[in-house]
Parts: sequence; C-alpha cells; structure tokens
Amino acid sequence: MQTKIWNVRNNVDDLSGYPQVQEIITGFKQDEIIAIPTETVYGLAANALSEIAVDKIFKAKGRPQDNPLIVHIYEKAQINNFARIPDGKVHRLMDAFWPGPISFILPLQKDILASSVTAGLDSVAVRMPSDKIARQILKLTYLPLAAPSANTSGKPSPTTADHVKFDMDGKIYGIVEGFQVEVGIESTVLDCTSYPYKIARPGAITKEDLERVIPGCITTAHYQTEQPIAPGMKYRHYAPDSPMALVSDMDQLRLETHEALIAPRSELPRFDGFMTYALSETFEDIEGAMHNLYSALREMDQQKEITKIYIADYSHITGSDALMNRINKATSGK
Ligand code: TXA
Ligand code: MG
Repeated sequence: MQTKIWNVRNNVDDLSGYPQVQEIITGFKQDEIIAIPTETVYGLAANALSEIAVDKIFKAKGRPQDNPLIVHIYEKAQINNFARIPDGKVHRLMDAFWPGPISFILPLQKDILASSVTAGLDSVAVRMPSDKIARQILKLTYLPLAAPSANTSGKPSPTTADHVKFDMDGKIYGIVEGFQVEVGIESTVLDCTSYPYKIARPGAITKEDLERVIPGCITTAHYQTEQPIAPGMKYRHYAPDSPMALVSDMDQLRLETHEALIAPRSELPRFDGFMTYALSETFEDIEGAMHNLYSALREMDQQKEITKIYIADYSHITGSDALMNRINKATSGK
C-alpha cells in the first residue's frame, strides 16, 4: 500500500484551507486508518464504530487483541452515544482538563462501538485531545475515532511524523503530517468506573492536578489485581533495541566507547567525547525530558554501533512519576 502523506503544517489553524482535507475525512468514513498528531503522541486513528476499520489498526501495529484502544472525541455530547459519565465529579474533571492529555475510563454502552476497541471489557477509555489538527479532524468527521499511539507495538510512541513514517510507511492509508508533539508521552488514563478514581497510567496530568479540582478523588491504595487495570501496561513498551540501564549516581558512571548516555544537559560536560543526548536542560526540567524521551530512544536505535545506553534517573524530582514510569519500562528486564 502506498501511504498518502498530507503535510498540513501551513494549515494548522484552519484545515479547510488544505486542498486534500476532504480526502482525509472521506478516508475515515471509508474505514481507512490514518495517523494524526495529538498533543501527547501521534495516534493511529480509525472510525471506532467500524469493526473493519479498527481491525486494521491492530494489524498495522501488530497489537495484541486484548489491549483496548482509546476513543477520541470532539465534544462531550458524543459520549452519550456509546458510554456513560458516572457522576458530576467526572464531569467536573473533564471540564477542568479537556481538551487535554487525559483519558477517562467510563462504563460502556454495549453493542455500539466495534468490539475490538474495548477488547471485550465493559468500559471504554475516552479522550478529547487539544491538538489543533486533531480537533479539526474530529470536528469534521464527527466520528468517535479509536486511536492508539501510531508506533509498531513494542516501539516508543511516535512524537514526530517521521517516527510514524519509519514504523508505518506502506502499512497504513495515510499520515497527517504536523509538527513535533507538545507533551511527548501518552495521556494520563483515569479509571472512573469506581470511586475514588484510579490512575491506570500516569501522564502529564498528575494526581495532584486532579485533586486540586476534587480533593481526595484519587485512591492512593495500590491497585492489586491479577490483571493490570490498563491492559497495555503489562506489555514491555517503549523499549529501544540496545540494552538500557538506569543511572542513579552520575558521579559513579564511567562510560566506555560505544556506550551512550541520555541525561540532562547540565550533567553532560564531564562526559565530553562520549555519545550523549541532552534529554532536558536540568533534572528539574521534567517537561523537557517528557518532550524529548521518545525521540532520544528512537535516535539511539539508529546508532547501530551503540552497545549500551545509560539513562539518568529523575525519580528524586517531584512530578517525575509519568516520566519515570516510561523510563523504567524502557530499562526493565535489560
Ligand atoms: O496519549 C494517548 O493516550 C495516545 C494518543 C494517540 O491519544 N494514545 C495512546 O493509546 O496512548 P494506546 O493504545 O497506546 O494506550 C491506551 C492505554 C493502554 O494502556 C490500554 O490498555 C488502556 O489505555 N485502556 C484503554 N481502554 C481501557 C479500558 N477500558 N480499561 C482499562 N484500560 C484501558
Ligand atoms: Mg501505545
């Protein structure tokens, strides 16, 4: 399949000025799968009402069938067609953080969405992205769009259109080419099927952010169950090809040739002459580190001579939970 590329970088504010916009909209209506930018990571989107369309996503990604997808919407009113907002508190959280980088797991209304979207669960994750391009596409199609991250399963999520091309060229109908995403890691996933709510996947919106709106609304109890609440969390994700190790004490690190270091720029001068990647400016710059993490991991995969990757431990910094969740996944088992 020849993947169509639609570069909309000059039309971010108003897609209607983009000559091929109708081709994108029609593609979705005809069960094609199309990668689109969102503020978190690029998504691989399809009409969530169509089993045929959603199956194409699982195929293109090589994604396990038991891992459900997030459904993206333009406005809250669309939710009533396929799910239920349990109470007023969920409404308040949605109003506080949407459009934005958080997905809410809600009770599902049966037999409306394609069954593979929810992997047979009786709940569905819903998100209203803030990215301008994503919002316009969601408005113009007015379809609920199922969209996982647009990477091959097991690879880091794509934060640029080039990452998407690298993984998906020839496998999908098209790629809407925007700029590098703003946030850089996937949305917070909040399970709202019981109270207090549970963070099923940490993201840029934190427990503290949520509790500023509704004090005490997030359970701190460790969620213990056979099955992780976000099924995707059990798979090894975000991992580069080379073995990767976490460095807690920079002073102890002795790099060798063919070893690389991903760390704050402020730590790099003493590793002059070695392969390094500035993940953020300083340790405190968590937003910068989230923004750059997946590009760093993908860049390391391109350097075939690298035999080992070291990455700085940011866990001593407040607000580093989501970042460290992704870093720990990339280093785990290696
Ligand atoms: O930022 C994001 O969320 C991106 C962009 C494209 O929106 N999407 C994304 O989708 O990261 P994906 O499929 O890569 O991750 C979805 C996560 C998985 O861990 C999945 O298991 C979990 O959400 N999930 C989806 N529906 C669920 C449900 N009903 N119950 C529990 N977990 C669910
Ligand atoms: Mg993913």
